[in-house]
Amino acid sequence: MRIVIFVLVFTCFNPLYATSSKIEDVFNVRPYLLYKSRDQRLLNVEVNRDMTLIIEFDEKALMRQSVVQKFKKNEMQRVLIRSKLCSISNTVNIYDDTRNLLHKLSFRDSCIEKDSSPSLEFLSIGDTQTFHKKHESVASSIVRNPDVRNSSFLLNTGDVVDYGNNYSEWLNFFKGADKYLGYFPLVAAIGNHDYARKKSYLLKKNPKYFRKFFRWNNDHSKNYVAINSEYFKLIVFDSIFEILNRKQQKEQWRWLKKQLSIAKEKGQIVALSLHYSPYSSAINTLGFSAAKLRKRLVPILEKYNNVPIVISGHTHIYERSVKKGIHYLVNGPAGGHAGRAVVYNHRKEAIAYKRTYTHYKVFRDYIELKTYTSDGEIIDQTDINLRSFTFR
Ligand SMILES: [Fe+2]
Repeated sequence: MRIVIFVLVFTCFNPLYATSSKIEDVFNVRPYLLYKSRDQRLLNVEVNRDMTLIIEFDEKALMRQSVVQKFKKNEMQRVLIRSKLCSISNTVNIYDDTRNLLHKLSFRDSCIEKDSSPSLEFLSIGDTQTFHKKHESVASSIVRNPDVRNSSFLLNTGDVVDYGNNYSEWLNFFKGADKYLGYFPLVAAIGNHDYARKKSYLLKKNPKYFRKFFRWNNDHSKNYVAINSEYFKLIVFDSIFEILNRKQQKEQWRWLKKQLSIAKEKGQIVALSLHYSPYSSAINTLGFSAAKLRKRLVPILEKYNNVPIVISGHTHIYERSVKKGIHYLVNGPAGGHAGRAVVYNHRKEAIAYKRTYTHYKVFRDYIELKTYTSDGEIIDQTDINLRSFTFR
């Protein structure tokens, strides 16, 4: 009897459960947040009929803010959420025009202060693409883990889906991600599969669904983005060189150098994310994209000396390599097929054939990194010393 009462109380008073039947009636995918900058998130909302919604959230100046907005059927619309800084209690409530609560999101904002405490925290996963139940098991592990709860965002290093032009795969992705969507704003690097067309795996130039779900700028030729906090910058690079023409590649390299230069002026610690990795034990390391990254990207990073961590995916093997103090981490596949090591990687410090997620705590002097399996087991951890880098 006690159990029945507990279940009833839990489901009735937990807004995520209390409103669950209405969510499917109203939204094409459960509303979620994109991490745009330290104090700005974008609420992504797509309704399945024309309607007015009331969005209520904690504003920067500690005032509760209400936005009333008309939404068009099947059209992704975004609402700018200016969050409280360094707060543990940001909530976003979505009501219909009769003030029925339809959905609730909560997120935390960790941040770096000059005295190193508290830190900025974030999470990464990769290759969610094929098996949505496997992705879901990683998602469950993330939300069950109390040590990652203060993460400001969750980074997906690409191959979000198997075939980027197949809308139903995106819906499956959001079903797999459902458990963490209510708590962690998302960021994503684009992967080769996000560009892919179903049947014969042809890549195409305009990854319309990736852009719809993960980008907010209107320039379809640029999938790279920089996300700034006061002491931290996340650079999200497009490494799918087989799609980018020479002009686009040239522009992106120029943009990267500019971002690193600005970061240096501001004294920001930089994390770089991209889909392909320059270093791994997988067959991909012999390909032209990895070779290009070793030839062009690595010397840039070593020259600027303000990027202690590079976070990738693609090989479907968890791996961490180190060169000149820079850690090159490849996420294990959250939902992809298992990969195989076939090349000797002498820079390798850790490797695991597991579905993983990694948690990062960025302090002024070091980055604490812990990698978990979908069972919650820690399989790799290290502190990246930042004293050998120059942030100014
Ligand atoms: Fe890939």
